[in-house]
Amino acid sequence: MAATSPRTTLPAPGAAGDLAWPWWPLLPLYPYGRRRTLVRELIPEQLWSFEQLQGVFYVAVPIRMTVARVRGGLMLYAPVAPTAELRRALAALEQRFGPVITIVLPTASGLEHKLPVPAMARAFPQAAVWVSPGQWSFPLNLPSSWLGFPSGRTRVLGEQGFPHPDELHWLSLGPLNLGLGRFQEFSCLHRPSSALLITDALVAINPQPPELFNLDPTPLLFHARDRGDQPLQDSPELRLKGWQRLALFASYLRPEALNVPPLGQLLGQAFRPGCRNARSYFGLYPFQWSRSSAAVFAELQAQAVGGVQVAPVLERLVFPRAQGLLLEWLRQLARLPELRWLVPAHYDAPVPCSAAQLLQLAEALERRRWAPDQGDWGYLAGIDSWLLRRGVVPEQPLG
Ligand SMILES: [Fe+2]
Repeated sequence: MAATSPRTTLPAPGAAGDLAWPWWPLLPLYPYGRRRTLVRELIPEQLWSFEQLQGVFYVAVPIRMTVARVRGGLMLYAPVAPTAELRRALAALEQRFGPVITIVLPTASGLEHKLPVPAMARAFPQAAVWVSPGQWSFPLNLPSSWLGFPSGRTRVLGEQGFPHPDELHWLSLGPLNLGLGRFQEFSCLHRPSSALLITDALVAINPQPPELFNLDPTPLLFHARDRGDQPLQDSPELRLKGWQRLALFASYLRPEALNVPPLGQLLGQAFRPGCRNARSYFGLYPFQWSRSSAAVFAELQAQAVGGVQVAPVLERLVFPRAQGLLLEWLRQLARLPELRWLVPAHYDAPVPCSAAQLLQLAEALERRRWAPDQGDWGYLAGIDSWLLRRGVVPEQPLG
């Protein structure tokens, strides 16, 4: 049985249908059509975390929906896939605190947060749906109603007011012009819990493997190896090693220390005894670390202030030419006197947070080089300059 914290509710595994997420082909990320959900109470009787895994080729990091108690019921912030298992856990909360009355899509660009919203809206036909302005889709920019957002009860954050303004303080980061569409996310301070709910702008990368992996540690064990012919083995040390590597993949896409072995070597290590199964991709393992991933992970964590940092992908691909906007947003957050906790939509939560810490983070970001080109940042920088050269992203994202 998986170890859990005292405040975790781990529903007993039910039928496969309980975990089914039939819309996975629209964004084919691991674990595809089978999503388990870890439910944790973050702030007693006020806030809950519903976490699922998402990723590619076992590079999977937690994605979180936050459930907040509001007057008259519950608000879902950044929905995840509404599997039967998840809906049962939500029904248990509804019994205690009232119905789901509000569903919020707080981002214009985060596809992984956008995709589950229409299904969640159908699961709660009485709930009002609020979306960040400037929604867009790729490769075809379709109207929201075509994407399944219920037009009769969908409202736009800011343009048509805000939900629960007496209990929630709403703040916008952006808009920024990304070329293909806009980046904008709305965070809100949930006053009853003093927690700030945010989407992608800040993260607190768990120093240890997130509890969600207790349900299935396969992605950790897969990446803890150094060669394809090593069978998947399990130990706390290997889980940690695998987690550090997953966090580095998710942060930099391709950290500097990561090499892809030549095809001959790759195939030579595949299909060996102990690896002839789908779980280990038949020994196909196209990764080779040229230095200790633990050391690279320590360098990544050293960028955080009090455990909180700007995700490198966001810094290098969304804000490389808009540092001022992000710093101004951090200073705006620091003016929220009640702020005690941060609850992002990925990685760890809740994270203790204070005005002083956010000001310190803003100063640290100003002191160091913003959106570097070198080292672990090189691959992200290459993507950015490729997009710039082709005119996909504008030189001036603030218009
Ligand atoms: Fe996200």
